[in-house]
Amino acid sequence: SLKVPNNEMIINPKDSDQEWQKYSEAVKKVPRNLDIPMIINGKKVFSQNKVKNLNPSNGEAIGSYQQADATHSQLAIDAALNAKEKWASLSPATRIQKFRDLENILLKWKYELCAVSSVECGYNSYETYVEWAELMDFVRFNNYFYADILSEQLGDGWGETNQIQMRPLKGFTCAVTPFNFPQAIGYNLPLVMALTGNTVVWKPSDDAVMSGYMLMLALDEAGFPPGVINMITGDGKPCLPTVLTHPELTAVNFTGSFQTARAFGNYLYNTEYPRANFPRYVAETGGKDFLVADSDIDVIDTARCIIQGAFGRSGQKCSANSVALIHETIWPELRSALLKETDSLIVCNAIERKCDVGPVINERQFNKITSYIDRAKNDKNCKIIAGGTYEKNNGFYVSPTIIEVYVDKHELLSEEIFGPVIAVRTYKKFEDAVSIIQQHNYRLTGSVISKNENFLEQAVPVLSQLAGNFYVNRKTTGAIVNMQPFGGDGASGTNGKAGGKWYLLNFISQGTITRRN
Ligand code: ALA
Repeated sequence: SLKVPNNEMIINPKDSDQEWQKYSEAVKKVPRNLDIPMIINGKKVFSQNKVKNLNPSNGEAIGSYQQADATHSQLAIDAALNAKEKWASLSPATRIQKFRDLENILLKWKYELCAVSSVECGYNSYETYVEWAELMDFVRFNNYFYADILSEQLGDGWGETNQIQMRPLKGFTCAVTPFNFPQAIGYNLPLVMALTGNTVVWKPSDDAVMSGYMLMLALDEAGFPPGVINMITGDGKPCLPTVLTHPELTAVNFTGSFQTARAFGNYLYNTEYPRANFPRYVAETGGKDFLVADSDIDVIDTARCIIQGAFGRSGQKCSANSVALIHETIWPELRSALLKETDSLIVCNAIERKCDVGPVINERQFNKITSYIDRAKNDKNCKIIAGGTYEKNNGFYVSPTIIEVYVDKHELLSEEIFGPVIAVRTYKKFEDAVSIIQQHNYRLTGSVISKNENFLEQAVPVLSQLAGNFYVNRKTTGAIVNMQPFGGDGASGTNGKAGGKWYLLNFISQGTITRRN
């Protein structure tokens, strides 16, 4: 049934010889020497300027991709504009059918998709399975959400009957997607825009271009018309300004850093650029996602929530738990449990069956994460109590790190790190924990752990206001399509809520037709 997300049906390949064999066969087949083309108007496009595509688990090149410039962007814009009228005029049912065909292809390509994600981005087998399940949920539920939105009916009265139309936006749209969920978030953003009748210029992360290419191959196989989604690749600076300043751009759907989101906003609302419209802007950015643990908790369960929330995907989730506020009376016991659990995590190449924590994505992120660790080493206001080591000879590895902080104001308590590093601060009074969270303006995910109903009654109404997605007695990560529409506000973004029905309205223009009887 639609109500049951795929996520509930995942078999962990680490626990199943049969699954493991299929996954590892696919890993062997991932091309290691592919010059990945851009796809514009259904055609392969190459650039003079090529960049090495690196495997973060061993630092080796697995081929190359193209650096797009303004000319490529213009080609992609033209293709999107040319394809628009025909695509937008198809009946929604025809588009929904195309997305069903796409769903079947992505279903068939499960192992290939998971393998590419492991080799190109360094996610372990289980993490890639979870992401694939989320991707399938997005594609399936978006069809259902769209049909539901289209069935909306208006009231009639005063001698008038009313009809609502859910139209595509005018012009063309743009999606810019991250490396950290290259296929779930990476594919969902351009796909939702296309489903609702828009045509798209899409730039996937330059760390996830092979994943991007897989979607373009799947669209082709599903018989999508050329030009509906056009993929340009590489660093955004040489190619995105052409897209973001174009007068016929009507929406941007972005997931990535706060800084990039702000830079895009400056382009979109700068009056220097001639525009015939107000572009829609959906931005999902970062978080400083918190967990508050009361004194009355199951210590082992809480430790697991923290470890999974903080170190899953090497902490590279906007929802990653990066600050834990722990009641001081329970801290000594929880500390031991946390150290024991952290100690058992295996950090290694993502394609190994034993891998718990793979590499971080690239050298730039590695340097950023390790600079926090280095500063902590020389800081009397905090102490590294687990991990704190790193190496980048063969891949970019950071060990899962827990840092106890002894003051209320500290960069580790308020800045997003986007790596396997979590700060812990103990508190006496609940209000103290709240003040620490309020010091930053990220409002993405949060969680509270307690067995005490009286405490929860006090804490949930307060803490839930500090997150777009708030969890009680659960980790901060792992929102599920149709169950927890995902996104926050403040510095965390525009609260677009991917994975929920209303998300689609961001890319739909509503019209009404009224008839006097
Ligand atoms: N949607 C992802 C999560 O909830 C980021 O962890």
